[in-house]
Amino acid sequence: MIESLAYVGFVSPRAAEWASFGPQVLGLQLAPAQADGVVRLRMDDAAYRISVADGQHDGLDHLGWGVAGPAQFEAALQRVHAAGCKVVREGAELAASRCVAELASFSDPFGWRQEISWGQACRQNTFQPGRPMSGFVTGEAGLGHIVLISPDLARSEAFYLDVLGFRVTDEVRFMGQKIRFYNCNSRHHTLAMTEVPGMVGVHHLMLQVRSLDDVGTALDKVQQGAAELTVTLGRHCNDHMVSFYARTPAGFEIEYGWGAVDVHADESIPRMYDSGDIWGHQPVGGSWHPPGIMRPIGAGPGALPAIFGDRK
Ligand SMILES: [Fe+2]
Repeated sequence: MIESLAYVGFVSPRAAEWASFGPQVLGLQLAPAQADGVVRLRMDDAAYRISVADGQHDGLDHLGWGVAGPAQFEAALQRVHAAGCKVVREGAELAASRCVAELASFSDPFGWRQEISWGQACRQNTFQPGRPMSGFVTGEAGLGHIVLISPDLARSEAFYLDVLGFRVTDEVRFMGQKIRFYNCNSRHHTLAMTEVPGMVGVHHLMLQVRSLDDVGTALDKVQQGAAELTVTLGRHCNDHMVSFYARTPAGFEIEYGWGAVDVHADESIPRMYDSGDIWGHQPVGGSWHPPGIMRPIGAGPGALPAIFGDRK
């Protein structure tokens, strides 16, 4: 089934800022411009991994899941169709825009646009970081991880596990909030989700660098004013990532980290942690910032969990 998060697309009124924010702060490489004006950013030899298109509001436009080849592509589409989702086989034009061989799309139970593809274009030995740094941990582990807000964690989880083939890595319980972590390759988690009644959203996207010094260098830039630091340097209990969080020009946060452990075959029984961190990871300003991308679904917005303060 799903093998990795191959690419991800956002929309934002401040999309153009990513052309400098991505390379200068995060060390991403600006991909050659296409006629659509979308900012595409590279983090390895793949044609691109992150795109940000112009939009009226900050939002997640699509999640791009990769599968191994044409046979796995057909099998995945059958499973999604059998789960009751309308699958659209996208044409060559959109596939070329996403830089993949073949592409299909569907909406998940809460309206996120999901894409499945195989054959992500790759230009070997061409990645050049936007500033001096040692590079990103990607390859078969995909581009990183994304943390979503779901209005119904059980229903979302059933979709990702039963339809897309994810496995539960572990769970963290933290200030009354439950966060579940899911893997689809060697990365500790490619997806995590937590529940906020009535809301869908994106909390953060994690990029993993190859050196602790890369985290420190980026943290220096953020603390010098390149972006808003939202969570201080710390180390997570479950994946052991040493990271900090900063606000991007598209509202959502980037977790910029190093040193995460892989999922190993002998760790197939999910664990539970009653704390998120071994050390650090304190919210800047004293209370946790609400997710930068979040919108009401269905009947109404619901109440923010107590974990989030009143910060505007
Ligand atoms: Fe994370």
